[in-house]
Amino acid sequence: MNVLVLGSGGREHALAWAISRSPDVKRLYVAPGNGGTAAVAKNVALDTEDLDAVLEFALDNAVELTIVGPEAPLVAGIVDRFRDAGQRCFGPSQAAARLEGSKVFAKEFMKRHGVPSAEFAVFDEPQAAKARVSDLGFPVVIKADGLAQGKGVVVAESSEQAISALDEIMVRKKFGDSGSRVIVEEFLRGEEVSIHSICGGGRAVMLPTSQDHKRIFDRDRGPNTGGMGAYAPVPFVTAKQRDAIYETVVKRTLTGMEKEGNPFTGVLYAGLMMTDAGPKVLEFNVRFGDPETQALLPLMKSDLLRLLFESTNSAPPETVDFHGDRFAATVVVASQGYPGAYKKGETIEGLSDIETPQRVVFHAGTKRDGQRWVTTGGRVLAVTAWEPGLAAAIKSTYEGVKRVKFSGAYWRTDIGKKAL
Ligand code: AMP
Ligand code: GLY
Repeated sequence: MNVLVLGSGGREHALAWAISRSPDVKRLYVAPGNGGTAAVAKNVALDTEDLDAVLEFALDNAVELTIVGPEAPLVAGIVDRFRDAGQRCFGPSQAAARLEGSKVFAKEFMKRHGVPSAEFAVFDEPQAAKARVSDLGFPVVIKADGLAQGKGVVVAESSEQAISALDEIMVRKKFGDSGSRVIVEEFLRGEEVSIHSICGGGRAVMLPTSQDHKRIFDRDRGPNTGGMGAYAPVPFVTAKQRDAIYETVVKRTLTGMEKEGNPFTGVLYAGLMMTDAGPKVLEFNVRFGDPETQALLPLMKSDLLRLLFESTNSAPPETVDFHGDRFAATVVVASQGYPGAYKKGETIEGLSDIETPQRVVFHAGTKRDGQRWVTTGGRVLAVTAWEPGLAAAIKSTYEGVKRVKFSGAYWRTDIGKKAL
């Protein structure tokens, strides 16, 4: 079949890499893609938020399955548009995508259906929010309701910090309309773990657990980024905890969405805090995580394309096969200055000397310029390696990372360290 992947990051390169190995794929397109996706697919210059243009491309090129990487087209209703035109698009409807698109919707939904999560209050007026911001004690977490590229969350240690965050979000509108409403939320303690489930037809199959590293500097310091590295599976999550995640988070969410008339199809990504009282949801995403996907897909034995096709068409199979003894680690190489301002156009060297049968490079912000590779983004590329043990996977990943050469190349040196 002909397949279209939407997006341009490392996640999309990993998706295209896995799909390109499927015996079912005929033509594989990535829009807009990056320097790396061009090696496994045909890049197409499309704006992924221009739903008309994307649909027209899919119709004109007999695309049988479109897979959406980023959240924006999902929240904008691409799946509904495709369905109305008789096209298969892997992902949730616009109504179901509110689990990511509106944090207020997600919190109220979880409360209605007994999905464990932090205590919270919702405010649409800054005065009321400020008056009540001390109710849950400190630290307290303040979240803008809408999409804010992962930046709309502030952990405030004092009422001064909380009030200044409320001013930034609600009064100065740092995230525009996304900050018209805020959530003030109880601070949870524990280890963070992500779980991805592939959903369709009322069924969910969980992928292995993974852990992201959101802060820019080692030991989780500095500002939040899109993610600086990941590993999977997370060795300290027990089978019993996985069962609890399935029963209390995944199943209740799926059943709740179905009951409310918004059945969920696509990837449900739950960001969890493993607290003493069990797993609690920090956030939902309705798409694959980046960089987690880059660590998860090399663990998968089943054919990804078939899995996504069947989930869209009817339901995922009851089980998905993984290489049980395999661990994968992903380390992102970023441009100096990211997540703030950074330079573009640096020549990248060393890429031909990294890949092995158990190590790959997934590109994010790169392009080919004649015979050269050059940087075009903050997160430039990531190296992923897999081995029978986590320590070996991390070691191999860093051996690859050290061969990447460009002016200002930066990476964290402690990806996965907490799990060893
Ligand atoms: P979110 O985008 O909601 O996942 O929040 C971004 C980050 O803020 C999370 O990955 C956590 O590190 C942190 N965070 C969010 N909510 C809470 C909470 N209730 N308690 C503690 N940390 C939180
Ligand atoms: N890695 C975090 C995210 O994809 O949202």
